Amino acid sequence: MVEAETTPGERAVARCDMLGEPPFSDDVGLLYRPWLGPGFIATVEAISNWMRQAGMTVRQDAAANLIGRYEGSTPDAPALLFGSHLDSVRDGGRYDGMLGVIAALEVVAGFHERSERFPFAIEIVGFGDEEGSRFPVTMLTTRAIAGVLEEDDPVAAFAELRDVDGVTVEQALARAGLTPRGMTAAKRSRNDILAYVEAHIEQGPVLEAEGLALGVVSGIAAQRRFEIRLHGMAGHAGTMAMSLRRDALTAAAEMVLAIERIGVAGGDRDGLVTTVGSLRTWPGVTNVVPGNVTFTIDARAGTLATRDRAVEEILAALKEISERRNVGIEIIPRENLNPSPCDPGLMALMETAVEDVTGQPARVLVSGAGHDAMIMARFAPIVMLFIRCEKGISHNPAEAVLSADVDATISALGRFVRLFAEDHSRTQGSQFS
Ligand code: GLV
Ligand code: MN
Ligand code: MN
Repeated sequence: MVEAETTPGERAVARCDMLGEPPFSDDVGLLYRPWLGPGFIATVEAISNWMRQAGMTVRQDAAANLIGRYEGSTPDAPALLFGSHLDSVRDGGRYDGMLGVIAALEVVAGFHERSERFPFAIEIVGFGDEEGSRFPVTMLTTRAIAGVLEEDDPVAAFAELRDVDGVTVEQALARAGLTPRGMTAAKRSRNDILAYVEAHIEQGPVLEAEGLALGVVSGIAAQRRFEIRLHGMAGHAGTMAMSLRRDALTAAAEMVLAIERIGVAGGDRDGLVTTVGSLRTWPGVTNVVPGNVTFTIDARAGTLATRDRAVEEILAALKEISERRNVGIEIIPRENLNPSPCDPGLMALMETAVEDVTGQPARVLVSGAGHDAMIMARFAPIVMLFIRCEKGISHNPAEAVLSADVDATISALGRFVRLFAEDHSRTQGSQFS
């Protein structure tokens, strides 16, 4: 019996699965791949080898982004840039971010096998810190490439931020031979990049519900994040009278419920969602009234107006609770991302590519999840392809995709490159500049 050949989609899924465990994860029994950790470094090495096998030259930039380059028909041609992120949330799924990088790699491997070149180069970037799962900021390395790092967050402001082990960004970079200030050297010249393309699992249920493998993203929701620090008073759990307490945790509990209530009251208007994803108490022991609590807020919506109205309500509720409970509050803004529309011209090409490959009209949908494309949109025209995932589950080890859908992804991305090339030779890139 002849064994069926592995398809590019099957190989891509197998690679993502392989990267879901140590040494590519920093934890045993779950996937956690924070920027610049041992799992991240091992992952960069593995993908670098696969990139070389696919005919690419490989480098890491000054922000530790991994970049593979497949030359065009002339040397030093500007590049069509594919990308997504290599990092993961703690106890994350194996395809969030990684599949976009690995699927793009299969597209290039196909071109390499057929010795196919284009009037532009193709580059693939594996970004370092899209999730913000190690340090309390996101997409520093994407900002470095887009050249907006200093504009958004002066280098001095992020260098001292710490991970849960107390390691600063500066120290983590130093271990990789890099510096916060030096990260700005990762900035790409606008003339060198024609457009940015990101394939990503949908992380939502729409495509599965409609029986579709692929979708084209019209834009990405606006996002704000805060870190909240509450300062009450620690005391003996056995002796401190209830009436005298300034308990930071009970204040936080009220605040968390207020944040949920404001999100729910939005009634799904403009896709408003509000989340407290992390909460830490200090000193965090059984017989001490909690003196300090730190928690996070993540608020998103399709429009700035809806998101910012919810944020105003949340901050007002937090201030009222902190005053009533006599607990001090520090509100530290950590992220403020505008909604990011995709480029209509590139969307039209991606829609044609999806229709050609699936034989169905392309479903266009909004992304509630954040992506590197949000930052790249400030630098170059962007387009995103969504891939159906099981039950819409993501940021969860149960994340799953069908390898047949990944085959469709690879075909659609390949078709997109050809359509882009036709368009490029017709317009000599002018419409995308
Ligand atoms: C990234 O996955 C985000 O949407 O927070
Ligand atoms: Mn994610
Ligand atoms: Mn992602």
